[in-house]
Amino acid sequence: MECTISWLTFYFTILFYTIFDVTTAQNNWKGNEVRWSKNCDFPGNNIGNQTIGGEHCGTICQNTLAECTHFTFTLFQGGTCWFKSGPVSPVQAIPLLSPGSVCGFLTISWVHEIGLSWSHHCTFPGGDFENQPSPGALCGPMCMDNPQCTHFVWTNVEGQGGICWMKSGGATRESAILTPGARGAVCGFRHNRSPNGGVPIVTSSTPWFDTDTCECVC
Ligand SMILES: *[C@@H]1O[C@H](CO)[C@@H](O)[C@H](O)[C@H]1NC(C)=O
Repeated sequence: MECTISWLTFYFTILFYTIFDVTTAQNNWKGNEVRWSKNCDFPGNNIGNQTIGGEHCGTICQNTLAECTHFTFTLFQGGTCWFKSGPVSPVQAIPLLSPGSVCGFLTISWVHEIGLSWSHHCTFPGGDFENQPSPGALCGPMCMDNPQCTHFVWTNVEGQGGICWMKSGGATRESAILTPGARGAVCGFRHNRSPNGGVPIVTSSTPWFDTDTCECVC
């Protein structure tokens, strides 16, 4: 038994070092949609755990667990993701002197294109003036074609199919709300004049959930 555990530990440690290239200092956050750092923990707010390799924590948090916003990975039982819910900020990460441990959180990570920026896993509350069935890839162009449209949300809820929610009145990156889990939302906004900066911006200070009426799941 002891032997099994140590081999598992060894296996996951090697796997982890290989996949995450763990050579950086603590709280040196890496990644875009999933930000992670080594040797840290977000204490509390546990909603579940899964014995699995650390490279899966972010994906499971993002796509499988409706409430998951952040996680901690430790080598407990050969490798365990501890999933957590609720708003979180990177400054809440505390050092965890447990070899191979990682903590991470989901963010809104914008992709900038000509005329608009968009991200997975986010929504804009309110501002709706029109919605119609649409494939995801056509929602942005549909908004661009409508002078009234300043921003949009695309949802793909089971039983409803893809819907493009066109919105007016303007939006900023800061007004986007993270929608973690399998809620299928994409949000985007049009650029007024020039895009705000040329590189993808990670928004981690968004007030998550508090105004999240989320037409996508109700
Ligand atoms: C891990 O999750 C299982 C359910 O999947 C639960 O029964 C167990 O108590 C959890 N372990 C800890 C240490 O929280």
